[in-house]
Amino acid sequence: MNLKQHIEVMLPAIEKELQSQVARLNADRTRHFHEMLTYHMGWTGEGAGREATGKRIRPLIVLLATASLGADWQTSLPAAAAVELVHNFSLVHDDVQDNSDKRRGRPTVWTKWGVPMAINVGDAMFVIANRAVMDLIKAHPASTVARTATILHDTCLELTCGQYLDMSYEERTDLSLEDYWPMVGGKTSALLSACTHIGALLGNAGETEQEAYRQFGYHLGLAFQVQDDILGIWGDETVTGKSTASDLVEGKNSLPVLYALGRQGKFADRWKQGPITANEVKAVAAQLEDEGGRSYAEELSEKETQTALKYLSESNPRGAAGEAMLELANMLLKRNQ
Ligand code: IPE
Ligand code: IPE
Ligand code: MG
Ligand code: MG
Repeated sequence: MNLKQHIEVMLPAIEKELQSQVARLNADRTRHFHEMLTYHMGWTGEGAGREATGKRIRPLIVLLATASLGADWQTSLPAAAAVELVHNFSLVHDDVQDNSDKRRGRPTVWTKWGVPMAINVGDAMFVIANRAVMDLIKAHPASTVARTATILHDTCLELTCGQYLDMSYEERTDLSLEDYWPMVGGKTSALLSACTHIGALLGNAGETEQEAYRQFGYHLGLAFQVQDDILGIWGDETVTGKSTASDLVEGKNSLPVLYALGRQGKFADRWKQGPITANEVKAVAAQLEDEGGRSYAEELSEKETQTALKYLSESNPRGAAGEAMLELANMLLKRNQ
């Protein structure tokens, strides 16, 4: 089975598990609240469907990690749902924090129902994620469930630290390239490393193997966020489903920006003068590309992918699922959405 075939089998199982977890809110009095969550998950409302659900790479990684140890991936489904719910909770809140009006090609939760409701939708997803982990008890010893919960809690804390750095950086003009990695390590890599780590733990990997899986996810996450930064400036909105202008307009200190600031050229002069307006975005992005911001980020994304692949080979993933995971890692570097 290749990656595509794994996805065809695993994805419906992931969606089913996610839907049953989210259905905890599906009571008469809270039907509309439940709909806000099902809208964000991509199942209901205008434009619902495969494009609106997002890629679901995190739960796929959990299941592939478990399967690559020769264990039954179905017993990891509650954990797969949990990581995807954590991811989606962070996206609902991130869109408020970043003032983003589009996600997966559709209006964001806060633009549809307001910021107070979006906070509550994110909170509900966060709690359901943690509740989902407890369902692992059907197939795993209590000590494994507790360890999974601890990994996920620590991850969420790291994620909020990363988001703190991301937001606080918007106000700063003294940043350099080295400030980038702790931010991204928190906001994106923490969760991806939890996916490979938890998948391996549930597949009964030993401590050394778990650590190699964890490192694989961590570096994959770094490469993934660098790619996201590139797409956030030069991506095609109709493919990414997110507004391309917003990272520059919001003053995000992404990797291409931090690189160009260090060069102290025309881009840096303009950046320091204050917010980029929507009609300047195209010219500023072109300047940033001219000064090497894009090619630097592409190099770093490739470098982190290679590091990730080194840890993946140390993890010694087995069988077709192991190969599918390698295919997924390579595919993520070439992604355009
Ligand atoms: C977007 O993640 C946020 C980042 C951490 C870069 P994805 O690109 O995985 O988003 P979806 O779930 O596929 O929409
Ligand atoms: C990604 O944040 C990390 C989290 C949501 C925790 P970004 O702000 O960089 O991601 P997008 O581009 O909005 O998906
Ligand atoms: Mg953000
Ligand atoms: Mg954002």
